[in-house]
Amino acid sequence: MQNEKVVIITGGSSGIGRAAALRFASRGDKVLITGRRAGPVEQTIAEHKNIMGLVADSSSAEDARRTIAEAVDRWGRVDALVNNAGAGAILPLSDVSPNRIVDIFSVNVLGPSLLASTALPHLKATQGVIINISSTYGHRPAAGLSHYAASKAALEHLTRCWALELAPLGIKVNAIAAGPTESGALTGMMGLSAEQAEAVKQEERGKIPLARRGDPDEIADWIVQFASPASRWVTGQVLAVDGGLGLI
Ligand SMILES: NC(=O)c1ccc[n+]([C@@H]2O[C@H](COP(=O)([O-])OP(=O)(O)OC[C@H]3O[C@@H](n4cnc5c(N)ncnc54)[C@H](OP(=O)(O)O)[C@@H]3O)[C@@H](O)[C@H]2O)c1
Repeated sequence: MQNEKVVIITGGSSGIGRAAALRFASRGDKVLITGRRAGPVEQTIAEHKNIMGLVADSSSAEDARRTIAEAVDRWGRVDALVNNAGAGAILPLSDVSPNRIVDIFSVNVLGPSLLASTALPHLKATQGVIINISSTYGHRPAAGLSHYAASKAALEHLTRCWALELAPLGIKVNAIAAGPTESGALTGMMGLSAEQAEAVKQEERGKIPLARRGDPDEIADWIVQFASPASRWVTGQVLAVDGGLGLI
């Protein structure tokens, strides 16, 4: 892998993805971020000349194709694909509907699969990496979060299966299981009001062994690490970056 990389980050216009984009860009890497809303994408690309943006929905096959093509057309290669865009909901079993389940799995399972598949020849050419962003709840049960949790469990297992399947091509596949992190997620993808979000935050702070929620930069540091040469002999791993929440 080259020192200066080409990195694709889905959902790079907010929270963890944005923090990772800025980290890579400040190291000299070229970063393509995606997001469904143009405004946050434009705000993020304005923050660093090495960040380019594309309005794209990672659950769409056509947008997956456009995303990989944009990076290859612009820079000629792909070194790292960060499947960061996520969907979720507080969704008790009594409230499920086909559409709500499909919405979660489309972004958390289908999207990473389409992007990884489309990126394969380019990642093979660079001996690159796929980094999937999971959650503590991908391996820790949580009432009311079953479909989000199950979709992240699927992403963690895809990580291990792809690691075996792609090892002969020299492609590494790892995941980061993030713990509760300050971002737009609770009021955005989880659809909570500001008051509900604050109540969840209080409860989480009380449970997390290190007694606080994480900062997006604390997840971004490990995303950068998994894309660095120091991780060249690491594959199929799910690293918990969660203040110890997964231990209890
Ligand atoms: N924050 C946490 O506590 C936490 C904990 C564990 C795991 N995670 C995981 O970390 C990842 C990032 O979450 P975050 O906390 O940084 O959330 P965030 O601040 O809400 O950012 C989510 C980003 O993803 C984009 N996005 C959402 N759906 C998309 C789609 N279908 N296609 C393309 N982009 C999409 C959003 O932009 P648009 O809305 O404009 O599309 C935004 O840029 C997610 O996979 C999440 O499950 C978060």
